[in-house]
Amino acid sequence: MGVLGDLASLRDRVLAELAATTTLEGVEALRVSALGKKGSLTAAFAALRDLPPDDKRAAGQALNTVKVALEEAMAARVQLLKDQALQTQIMAEALDMTLPVTGGGLGRRHPLSRTLDDIVALFARQGFVLHHGPDVEDDEHNFGALNFPPHHPARQMHDTFYVDQTDANGHPMLLRTHTSCVQIHALKEATLPARILAAGRTYRCDSDQTHTPMFHQVEGVVIEDGITMGHLRGCLETFLADFFERDRVDIRFRPSYFPFTEPSAEVDIRCRRNASSIVIGEGEDWLEVLGCGMIHPNVLTACGVDTKRHQGFAFGLGVERLAMLKYGISDLRMFFQNDGRWLRHFGFVG
Ligand code: DAH
Repeated sequence: MGVLGDLASLRDRVLAELAATTTLEGVEALRVSALGKKGSLTAAFAALRDLPPDDKRAAGQALNTVKVALEEAMAARVQLLKDQALQTQIMAEALDMTLPVTGGGLGRRHPLSRTLDDIVALFARQGFVLHHGPDVEDDEHNFGALNFPPHHPARQMHDTFYVDQTDANGHPMLLRTHTSCVQIHALKEATLPARILAAGRTYRCDSDQTHTPMFHQVEGVVIEDGITMGHLRGCLETFLADFFERDRVDIRFRPSYFPFTEPSAEVDIRCRRNASSIVIGEGEDWLEVLGCGMIHPNVLTACGVDTKRHQGFAFGLGVERLAMLKYGISDLRMFFQNDGRWLRHFGFVG
């Protein structure tokens, strides 16, 4: 019987072609050519019409069996191809977490983190060792031990954030207004001579174009026999030339007042102000960059340092200010807005 005789070879041909098909489009084309409206199997179904009624039933069943077999084989092939495609995709997207990080893969470094690290590294070259203190301080470390008398107006100048709490000795707690307080912790434990550095967040209740409630400072302290303002000047000149990547920078000391240093000075750096930028290290202008002085004997005494044997200098600088000058950042507030475009521009790769 013609229809059925051809049927076995039709099925075998389609199954063989299916096995050789490696794309979903190929399977679909095969389905259309066998089972579609004008497909070969569909034509065989149409041919049933011409069979004598006795043969029709058996032939119809046989055709149906082949049709179901082909449909199942095609569905299985589609599933296999989809599984293979997924597997290939997974392999291609595989992430090996043990591989080393290569340039820029994990976003950018914030210019402040970079500046902080650079400052710490440059002072480390001069022998400074990094110390840490708490962000939430008691007012004795932040003010008292630093020679701010109890009701001295300088305390008000710091626009302090007080915390609704006192420490075990009844001292009010606050968010540290400068990193100078870390020197009290460090000096109480130090073996002298010592070169102490503190870096980190500081807080003042102040917010405008040139102030943010949280900002960063670096504090340096050197206690050594026979230390003078001359050593202080040399230390700062070396640091500032290193930081601004110049052979040398001119600085100038202006007398100033801080309760914890005597004498005290503010340090200006030589610069030129152009229309929209500042060039450091040349020109006829001066720009204030930090405060410093010889540590007040009251501070040393509060830390148990024998002032007959030791003296020292201290300095404090604002990290945002130095970063702005070095990288030409004009608006302080951008540091903390986390604008992705700004970070891509001013951030560092690696
Ligand atoms: N603590 C000062 C401030 O926050 C900065 C400072 C000035 C630190 C002079 C010093 C210093 O050690 O000698 O404004």
